Parts: sequence; structure tokens; C-alpha cells
Amino acid sequence: FKHVHFKDNVDSTQIVAQRLVNEGAHTGTIVIANEQTLGRGRLGREWFSPPDTGIWMSIIVRPEIELREAPQLTLVTAVAVARAISNVTDLEVGIKWPNDILINGKKVVGILTEMQADPDRVNSVIIGIGINTNQEKFPNELKKIATSLSMEKGKKINRAELIIQILKEFEWLYDAYLTMGFQFIKPLWEARAVSIGKRVKAVTTKEVFYGMAIGIDDQGVLLLEDDDGKIHPVYSADINH
Ligand code: BTN
Repeated sequence: FKHVHFKDNVDSTQIVAQRLVNEGAHTGTIVIANEQTLGRGRLGREWFSPPDTGIWMSIIVRPEIELREAPQLTLVTAVAVARAISNVTDLEVGIKWPNDILINGKKVVGILTEMQADPDRVNSVIIGIGINTNQEKFPNELKKIATSLSMEKGKKINRAELIIQILKEFEWLYDAYLTMGFQFIKPLWEARAVSIGKRVKAVTTKEVFYGMAIGIDDQGVLLLEDDDGKIHPVYSADINH
């Protein structure tokens, strides 16, 4: 990680990273901000990014992978961030497919992967990571579903230390993924998965689907089993327990 850009206030680290990609930024270029005014989440949602309390960062990578493999990078990142948080806080950290990190059932981390491809090979990927680190309270609409590391741990977390851990874990897991493939990541992801073996409701853009989450396949696609025992791949959805 030779190029780390620290910013006090940005619209979104994803936007800053996109600009750097356009200027030819290399794999491992990082943007970290203390505050975002236009933090964005998945599915066009807003991501609450107040100053001084969170880790709002984007990692640029240019992997030699096919477009259909790109969602695997989200799972690689989730494993890296989950490991880093557990190294620093000793808290029990779970992953909800595909990319939420939960502690005691509430969300502490969101991951947003955005990419450019031409037309079937990946050109660049911007992995956005938002970590609720030292917030002591949340807006009403988030209270029930979100928490922060400091609220769960009962003390402030050193953001620099956690960032270093994330970069360290991401670096070796990303290398392992590129050299050994997703099969190396899959068991690490599954060991922390909170949805597997549970009945879930999957909300996709087209339908609402109920089923038992039985695992992920070798591509990282979620597999849901319906009441007739038929297995359905889920490529993109919101999962509720
Ligand atoms: C989600 O909806 O769960 C994903 C949230 C991703 C938030 C991070 S914060 C850093 C980066 N910049 C953004 O604007 N979003 C991502």
C-alpha cells in the first residue's frame, strides 16, 4: 500500500477513488476520510458517515479476473475486515451474506464494491468499507439495526490500529485469493457466516423469496433451499433472518 490518501472531509471516498482510477491509480491505492458528506451504501442508499468516529475507506484494485468473479472480492474483503476487527477488539464477529459484518446481531460494517469492466474482463474495482467505530449514538432510524465497535466493546477503539490491521489482513487474503482462487477464501468466510443453516427472506430486485440458506457455492453465490428441496442461487439480494 504505497499510496494512501488521507482526507479530512470528502463527498464519498468512492468518488475520490474513482477519480484516482481515471488517473491510472494502481492496485493498493487507498482513500481514507474522517467524514463523508455523501457516503453511499448499497442499492442507492445513503451511508451515515459522521466525523471523527468512523473508518470510511476505499481500496482500489485491478485484479486479473473475469467479471462474473468480481463479487468474490466482496467476500474476500468481508473476511479481511472481520479478522481485523476480531484481532483488535476480541469481539465475536459474524458475516451476513454477502457483505455485512455484525456484532451481537447488529451491523457494524458495510462493504460496497463498485467496478469497471471492459466488456467481460474486470478493469478496476473500488472496494468501499464503512466501519462504525467510535459512535456513541445513532439516528433513530438506525438504532435498532446498527451498532459501533466502541458501543459493543465498552471502550474507544484506536482507528489507526484497526486500519493497519485491515490493510494487513486484506493484503495477504487478496494475494491468496489471486494465487489460489476463491476456494481458499470460502472456508474462512463460511466459518463466520451467520445466515447459513437459517431460514431467511431474500429480497431481490425482482422477487421476495423464502428459503433455508444452505451455503455458498464455489463462486461465492448464496444457495437457498425452498420447501420442496429445490436449490436456488441468489446473486444479489438483501437477506433478513
Ligand atoms: C452498505 O450499504 O452496507 C455498504 C456501505 C459502504 C460504505 C462505505 S464508507 C467508505 C465508502 N465510501 C462510500 O461512500 N461508501 C463506502
